[in-house]
Amino acid sequence: MTEGAFSELVMDHYRRPRNRGPMENADGTGTGGGGECSDTLTIRIRVAGERIVEARFECEGCPPTVACGSIITEMAAGKDLDEAAAIAGESVCDALGIVAAEYRHCGDLAAEALGNAIMDHVVRSIEGR
Ligand code: FES
Repeated sequence: MTEGAFSELVMDHYRRPRNRGPMENADGTGTGGGGECSDTLTIRIRVAGERIVEARFECEGCPPTVACGSIITEMAAGKDLDEAAAIAGESVCDALGIVAAEYRHCGDLAAEALGNAIMDHVVRSIEGR
C-alpha cells in the first residue's frame, strides 16, 4: 500500500484527522472491527434531545480507515439519531473518493461503529443510565 493509492481527501483526513481522540462522559460508544482486517474504530457521541451534537473517534488502522472515522464524525454531527444511523459505509467511501474494492469495507467499519454508538445511547436511555 502506498499513500499515492489514495485520494487527496483521504490523505488530508489521515494527516489532519477531525475529531480524533477521546470524549469525556460520552452519551454513546460503539466499535467497529473484527472483519477482514485487524483495523478497529471506536466512535463516541454526545447527544442533545434526539440530535448528535458532537462525535469523536479513535482508530488503529490504515489511512482510509482513519479518514473514514474522521469524515463520519463530521457527517454525523448535527444529524438526528435516525438520520445518523442511516449513514451507510458506501456513503462514507463515496464522500472520500475511496473506490478501490479492497478499501470499501473501511467505510463499513466506520458506519458500524457509529451505529453501535447510537444503539448504545438508545439502550442507555431506555435503561435510564
Ligand atoms: Fe480494513 Fe481499512 S483496511 S478497515
